[in-house]
This record gives sequence, C-alpha cells and structure tokens, in this order.
Amino acid sequence: MLTDAEALHCAAVRDHLAAEIEAAGGWVSFERFMDRALYAPGLGYYSAGARKLGPGGDFTTAPEISPLFGACLARQCAEVLCAFARGVILEIGAGSGRLAVDILSRLESLGQLPARYWILEISADLRDRQRRCIERELPHLLERVEWLELPPALPFDGMILANEVLDALPVQRFRWWGDRTEELGVSLDGGRFVAAARAADGTLAEVCARLKGEREWEPGYTSEFCPRLAAWTMSVTRCLRAGAVLWLDYGLPRSQYYFPERRAGTLLCHFRQRAHDDPYLYPGLQDITAWVDFTLLAEASRAGGFELAGFATQSHFLAALRVDEEMQFLAAGSDEQFARLAGQARRLLLPGEMGERFKAMAWLRNWQRPLSGFALQDLRHSL
Ligand SMILES: C[S@@+](CC[C@H](N)C(=O)[O-])C[C@H]1O[C@@H](n2cnc3c(N)ncnc32)[C@H](O)[C@@H]1O
Repeated sequence: MLTDAEALHCAAVRDHLAAEIEAAGGWVSFERFMDRALYAPGLGYYSAGARKLGPGGDFTTAPEISPLFGACLARQCAEVLCAFARGVILEIGAGSGRLAVDILSRLESLGQLPARYWILEISADLRDRQRRCIERELPHLLERVEWLELPPALPFDGMILANEVLDALPVQRFRWWGDRTEELGVSLDGGRFVAAARAADGTLAEVCARLKGEREWEPGYTSEFCPRLAAWTMSVTRCLRAGAVLWLDYGLPRSQYYFPERRAGTLLCHFRQRAHDDPYLYPGLQDITAWVDFTLLAEASRAGGFELAGFATQSHFLAALRVDEEMQFLAAGSDEQFARLAGQARRLLLPGEMGERFKAMAWLRNWQRPLSGFALQDLRHSL
C-alpha cells in the first residue's frame, strides 16, 4: 500500500510522463521513459525526496550493507594516491554518502587522505543527504569534500570511482525477430503505460546485429542496450590526467549478457526491498536498472585512452584487498562486532549474494602499476 504522499507523487510522475508521451505523438523510447522516471527534476526517482538506499529504502547497496566495502576500496585508493603529491578522489553517484564516509575515514587512519574528495551527483536531494552524512560522521573532513555540478574541467591526478551508477543509466530496449528488429518504447493505453514496438532505426538494428553475432536468438528475443554509456563514461573520466578509474556494478561480459537463454533481458526494478520487472508500476517511487555490459564499458574506456588494469568479481576483489584484515581492524577487538562484520562480509562475498553478480573493473591512464584488488582473479580474457 502506498501512503497518501507516495500516491500523490506517483500520480504527478505519471501525469508528467503521460504528457511527454502525448507531446511526442503517442510513443517515447524506453530510454526516454527511464530517464524521466529516474531523473526528471523534482519528480524522478533520484531527483525527489524519498529514502532510497539502505534497510528503510528500496534497495541496499554494498556500502549500505557494511563499512568493509569502503574500507577495502580505501586500500585500493591508498595505493593510487600515494603515487601523487596531491591526489584527488572523484566519486560519481555517491548515494547516501556512506561510501564517501567509509573511504575517507579508512584513508585517514592509513595516513593517505586525498587532497580533495569530489562528488559528482546528479540528484540535488542526494547531494543534501551526502553533505549531512559527512557533516555528522566526519565533520573535520567536510571541508575536503566538494560537490561538483559537472565533471571537473581541469585535469587532475588520482582516482575516479563509482559503485552501482552505470546500472542506473537509461537503456534502449529491443526485440529481435530474425528478419527485423523492433525498438520497444512506451505508449499509453487507456491511461496506462504499455510497451509498444516500432521498427528499430538503422543504428539500433546495427547494434542489435552486432550484439547477436553468431548467437542463436529465438524470434522475440528481448534485451537492452545502453546507448549513452560510452559518451557518458568518457565525459566523466576525460579529466583524469594520471591514475585509475574503478567501476563496480552488477553485470557481465557481453558474451554472457546476451546469452540466448536470457531472452527477456536484465531490466529490474526495486521498490521497498523487492525486485520486480514492471517498469511501469510505480513511476517515480521505484528504481529502474539494467545490468552492465562490461564489454561495452571496455570498448568505451579503451577508446578514451585507458588501459585495462583488472576485471574480477566483487568477491575476489574484496578478498584481494584483505577484507579479512579489515574485519579485524573494524572489529577493534570486539567479538560481537567481529561476528556482525562476518555476517556482512558473507553478503558481500558469497556467490549467491553479491559476490559473483557484482564485478570490479579498473582502468589506468598515464600511470602503470598492478592494482592489488585484482591480484586473485583476472577475468579480462572474458571481455
Ligand atoms: C544505485 S545508487 C548508488 C549509490 C552509491 N554509489 C552506493 O553504492 O550506495 C546510484 C547513484 O548514482 C547517482 N547517479 C545516477 N546517474 C548519475 C549521473 N548521470 N551522474 C551522477 N550521478 C548519477 C544517483 O543519484 C545515485 O546517487
């Protein structure tokens, strides 16, 4: 059951989306629908005020599960930062601010704080929450943190990182019939949003043919593609003169993403800790995501002048960054705290939880050094 306020908000987002569809002649691409449902100013899921992350929200990300995640990432950041006199961290899509707090506090104890911690965050509401979180937990480091409206204009050295941001980039949906390809967009039917097919334009049809390759897709095979991933990742990483970029997200190399068996794609929505596949259910109140095609990310990053430093499951990445030592450190001698952290570690590491679905991928530019996070597993060949 929605609260009155939620029902009102949902109705306002529905009206906004319906008006957009009507103004466009009765059909919009799914990419446009997802973009507005998530990011329309003051209305979209990420732009309006509901609590999204953590146990009281719609979904729980790794930093919301455990400080171990940020502590391990801090170890990886420290390795990069120590190579630069005034290294900077740029975090993209910082959610509640939890990850920034965990990274900064561990870097402080390692004596390896960045000169600046920049946050590039699309949501004004989340920017406020992040500021409050850092102010509450690390007031003495607040002045080191800066929120950016746009990717930095001037080159900097250090580290760019983003956890679960790529999956929130709007995607196009397509349906393949062998002799033709359709784009699945959104129309209205008696005031309800419905999936509506149109002949795909030449660009999408070509992309689809490339994704299919030699695979045997059944007629009606439906999936998605993120057309803005290349341009967007390039725009946010262009400013890195020397250092590393680290992406963490759920996803697969292309060869597995577009498996014939995955015939309905990977689109997933989250509402109050439940995952479902209906993107039209609660517009503005639910998250809409799609898995990341890591081969697409690899192509884009290479084209942007980066060298692939590593690709591994989250489980191997955190283990290589000595999550066991971080457990000891954070437990600080308390058995009770150690047991709590051990439970959290299981959620981050086990294959049936986040351990295998989530991957870490790192890229280097003008700086050469193996990154410890990839010492235990190398999945680069799978891309
Ligand atoms: C699923 S949340 C993940 C939050 C956080 N990284 C975590 O792990 O808890 C996605 C975050 O990315 C932000 N975001 C989405 N698209 C963005 C964009 N184009 N630029 C900057 N931030 C974006 C959202 O507002 C949100 O903070």
